[in-house]
Amino acid sequence: MIAVDEGKLAELKGYIDSHRNIEHPDSYLIAILHKAQELFGYLENSVMDFVAHEMDIPTAHIWGVATFYHYFNLHPVGKHIISVCLGTACYVNGANAVLQAIKDELGINIGETTEDKMFTLHEARCLGACGLAPVVMIDQKIHGGLTPEKTKALIKEYRNKG
Ligand code: FES
Repeated sequence: MIAVDEGKLAELKGYIDSHRNIEHPDSYLIAILHKAQELFGYLENSVMDFVAHEMDIPTAHIWGVATFYHYFNLHPVGKHIISVCLGTACYVNGANAVLQAIKDELGINIGETTEDKMFTLHEARCLGACGLAPVVMIDQKIHGGLTPEKTKALIKEYRNKG
């Protein structure tokens, strides 16, 4: 188990405490896990144990929720999260070639993080911007109308920005 930042744990506890008066803990578990991910970058085992203990919910249930939703990270992630859309509109407009360009540029597969911890690659099913297909989201920003060449240039841009 890695050492967990006590200050961040205290902040998470405060967030959980502020929701304690809500009757059904399950209904705000997702909000708590979002907060935990925002604080720690990903849902580390001991953080999930902490949430389970504080909320009096079995750890197995928390794991179930965390693994069901693709936006929760169970492993350390890179500085930039790339989500490549493989939904229908993007797929028919060349998403596979865009994905291949990203894989070639970064040398990683879906679900992996580059060695320098700069990028993590995820797949998505429709990012709600089908008119711009094919689409990639980097962090919270949507990039549309991509070709393999534009995609590689985009990644270089992020790499240069640091
Ligand atoms: S299918 Fe890619 S944004 Fe909708």
